[in-house]
This record gives sequence, structure tokens and C-alpha cells, in this order.
Amino acid sequence: MAESKSSAVPGGFGRTLRRDSWWLEVIPTIIGLGGFGIYATLRALEGANYEWGPYLSPFYSPLIDATHRVWPFSPALLILAGPLGFRITCYYYRKAYYRAFFFDPPACAVGEHVHRKYRGETKFPFILQNIHRYFLYVAVVFLCFLWYDAFKSFWFDGKFGIGVGSLVLLINITLLTLYLFSCHSLRHLVGGKLDCFSCTAFNKTRHGAWKKASWLNEHHMLFAWLSLFSVGFADFYIRMVAAGTFTDLRLL
Ligand code: FES
Repeated sequence: MAESKSSAVPGGFGRTLRRDSWWLEVIPTIIGLGGFGIYATLRALEGANYEWGPYLSPFYSPLIDATHRVWPFSPALLILAGPLGFRITCYYYRKAYYRAFFFDPPACAVGEHVHRKYRGETKFPFILQNIHRYFLYVAVVFLCFLWYDAFKSFWFDGKFGIGVGSLVLLINITLLTLYLFSCHSLRHLVGGKLDCFSCTAFNKTRHGAWKKASWLNEHHMLFAWLSLFSVGFADFYIRMVAAGTFTDLRLL
């Protein structure tokens, strides 16, 4: 690969001394995040084909007011803010969409727009990104519901069974769990505030947990993408089965 650590050429949007294909990183992000955003919005608004047998789409979990006694719109809209807020304020996704959609900057050492008053995330609205640490707690609650859904997907009319949908939901919740456990805020919670592990209670346990969180954190980008695709695919699969387009194969 050509040298990519050289600095941007001053005075021009998109100007750079880099000779590698830096834009190759931007295009998949635009397609991946943009495509997911459009699909998820349409599905959240659809309000139909979100469950079949023991399967429930992760976009609609937990399912609230499915019979529209109080809420006349799609039940997904009642819960959307939780997972969306967690993703949108995620440290990795912030980097990805600042580059791909705001071109601010488009990549490392590539010229960006001229900022008269650059304030980064220290002022409104981007200061709101700091609530990510609180969305982490919300995400833990959602994760519990999704684990319950994955467990339930192995029970067909009260009997244990395995369908393709059961495996789809199990893989999805596993990837979502890896995504959450590799979160920067979680790693900070486990050990980020400490100067000295040996000075704390449960020091060995805590140090061990921090090392595991650090290992997972190194792969956070990978888990962010894999879990994004898996959650989209899980919803797509259940939609297709519920609509009668796909037949769910029973493996056991
Ligand atoms: S930093 Fe990405 S989920 Fe927390």
C-alpha cells in the first residue's frame, strides 16, 4: 500500500498527498449505512409481517401494543429510539458517517471543508453524542429482550425445534452481544476510570474483565458491521416468511 500517513495538502476539499485509494473506504460505508437506513425506515413504518410462529423481528422487539389499542401506528416506532440512539451515537459509526456523509474529513489526511468555527462535539448539536454512555444501559435492556426472542424461537407450539429462523435469530443476538460488549463506553465502565487495578476491590476479576473488554473493543468495527447486517437480515428473513415468500425450513 502507498504511504497514507502523509498530511493533507492545505487549501482544498478532497486534496491530499495520499496515493492509495482512500475513497474505497468511504463508498462501502455510504452503501452499507445508507442502504440499511432506508431499509430500516421502510420496515419500521410498514407495521406488518414482523412475526411468524415463534419468530419476532428484532426491529419490533419488544412488541408493544400490537393490537393498536393506544398507538395507531407501527409498533416499531415505539421502540426505535433505543437501538437507533445507541447506533447513531456509537464512536465507530460517528467516525464512519462523519467521513462518508459529511466529508468532515472524507478520510485521514484528506482535505475537508473550511471551518470558520470548528467546535467538533463540544457544542450543540454534536455535544449530544455524549449521551452514548447512557444509551448503553438502554441497549442492555433491548439485548435481554432479544435473547428472550432468540430462546423463544426454538419452541414451536410448546415443543423444542430448530428452524432456519431460530438459527438466524441466534446468530443475530450473538453478534449484537459482541457489538455491545465491545463498546468503548462499556470498556471504560469496566476499567477506564482506574489508574491502578491492584488498588481496587476484586482487582484480578476486574482486570481480567477489562482485558477481555479491550480485546473485544479492538474488533468493534467488525462487530458493528456484522451486527448491522445480521439485524437487517433477521428482519428481512422473518418478513419474507411472514409474507409467505419464503418457507421456513425445520431442521429438527
Ligand atoms: S462505541 Fe460503538 S457501541 Fe459503544
